[in-house]
Amino acid sequence: MTTIEQLRESAQVICDTFGEIPQTAMVLGSGFGEFAKILTDTKVLPYADIPHMCISTAPDHVGRLVCGKVNGVPVLLMQGRLHHYEGYSFAQTVYPVQALSLAGVKNLILTNAAGGINTDYAVGDFSLITDHIKLCDPSPMHGANIPELGPRFFDMTNAYDKTLRTLALQAAQETGIALKEGVYAYMSGPQFETPAEIRALNVLGADLVGMSTVAETIAANHCGMKVLGISCVTNMAAGVTGAPITSEEVNETGAKMLSQFSTLAAAILAKIAQNR
Ligand code: HPA
Repeated sequence: MTTIEQLRESAQVICDTFGEIPQTAMVLGSGFGEFAKILTDTKVLPYADIPHMCISTAPDHVGRLVCGKVNGVPVLLMQGRLHHYEGYSFAQTVYPVQALSLAGVKNLILTNAAGGINTDYAVGDFSLITDHIKLCDPSPMHGANIPELGPRFFDMTNAYDKTLRTLALQAAQETGIALKEGVYAYMSGPQFETPAEIRALNVLGADLVGMSTVAETIAANHCGMKVLGISCVTNMAAGVTGAPITSEEVNETGAKMLSQFSTLAAAILAKIAQNR
């Protein structure tokens, strides 16, 4: 079980390593880890050097914090996230989010690769997450509450912050990169879904499906951070086209979209910084 003392120790190491902490942190989803390369003035802190933090085991998730600037705008990147399917508890998967909050981060941009359920999507599309559906598994806030982080019961009405979404849509329009909007359904994986599960999620109102992001969003809302969620549709979800889903396809699409993702992410970071 996470304690406030553990989190404070982790936050102290983050602050000691990076000095001034950027207002905005960004979690880089599958395929987008290389975004860290466009940062200047970088400092790096491997997860293994942060007390009490777990390491990333998912392919392509390097497992380190990278602090630097994108076109002069400070940002703290999580290059690699922790997933429940890796065997971590939900509490462990959100530990870095809570530590970043204690270190002083206010805005959290969560990015991911997702399957497209809504047939208005095409592979390679970017979509803002407007809301999420999590049907099963305990909340990451399950267990004793840590009042220093946030209240026992908390609102999720604006879980994906409306102001940040508006800024992201403006940034997308200015860069000419299409940014759709949709509801993200969490499935625990690591298996991709069955076609029947995808049909059920479709009926429930989900546009996108993936194995991350939602626990982090819950933890970030608990501790009062503002969240922006961005999915890249790396494949159409199970049964939508009938083609089997492979992790190679997911990674290939992510790699193909990296340059556009970088342009979009940089524009969004600039917009958020201007709006302070
Ligand atoms: N399902 C779940 N997670 C995913 C998918 C998917 O189709 N694509 C990328 N991550």
